[in-house]
Amino acid sequence: MVEDSAVEVRPVAGYTGAEVVGLDLAKPLSDAEAAAVRAALLRWKVLFFRGQHLDHEAHLAFARRFGTPVAPSRRGSVSPPEFPGIETTADRLELGGRYGMDRAEWLDRRRHTLLRGWHCDHGARIDPPAASILRAESVPAYGGDTCWSNLAAAYAGLSAPLRAFVDGLRAEHRLGVGYQPRPGDDAYVRHLLDHQQASHHPLVRVHPESGERLLFVNGYYVEQILGLSRAESAPLLEMLLEQAVRPEYTVRFRWEPGDVAFWDNRATVHLAPNDTGVADGPRVMHRVMLAGEVPVGVDGRPSDPVTGTAPGRW
Ligand SMILES: [Fe+2]
Repeated sequence: MVEDSAVEVRPVAGYTGAEVVGLDLAKPLSDAEAAAVRAALLRWKVLFFRGQHLDHEAHLAFARRFGTPVAPSRRGSVSPPEFPGIETTADRLELGGRYGMDRAEWLDRRRHTLLRGWHCDHGARIDPPAASILRAESVPAYGGDTCWSNLAAAYAGLSAPLRAFVDGLRAEHRLGVGYQPRPGDDAYVRHLLDHQQASHHPLVRVHPESGERLLFVNGYYVEQILGLSRAESAPLLEMLLEQAVRPEYTVRFRWEPGDVAFWDNRATVHLAPNDTGVADGPRVMHRVMLAGEVPVGVDGRPSDPVTGTAPGRW
């Protein structure tokens, strides 16, 4: 007997993003519902569930239906200690504040990151998370949206000769790329040295579930294309990054309290535009990430670790 899941998937842009209606994520999903969500995620890369009002327990229970939540050893100071899988961000000042900088200085010192801000979560790890599930607790009246871009569509949109060329390349992904250190003592540089993280990933990654080829670049971690000179690597990377985030491959989501976004962290990059703090009001968000695997290139070769934690270790 076919179970009727009553799940409706409403695409919100040409390539990327769909709203899923007809589900209460606080309740256990049936197998048919979970299968419908997974199929929609593979197709649309990021799913939006409006007005859910999950608590931490329900957020984790939903995540477990689709994988294994990770428990990062370092989380922001406002994360709930009793839920190791939940990471909470109370505003975007926090990261710079941790290293003794105000927001303006923190942004200024990251100004030279390529296409500052577009990233996949933990992309410098040897096994970046498979997915992230973010929920909004409170948001300002305007500002603080999130954008995603579809890396399968971006790859498919390249010309055939260029696809053939990039298929065989690999790139270094490193935490802290483009950061301009403070003169003298810099707490963030000390942090980077103590927690170095770098991997050599294929520039084109094969999705482990869909088999799609993904343009595995971002403006946050990718430093150089391996085997190329700087004069060759820099403009090629610049061009691929621009391709990865062309407007037709993106979607922009306006958060309301209670909303949940569930994205495939292998098939997308995302961006929080720098416009929070314009409107009053706190922006409190909670994230759960699902464990991922070591990426594999078109030639079947997995990524190579350079430095950082071993696969599965957080
Ligand atoms: Fe992120």
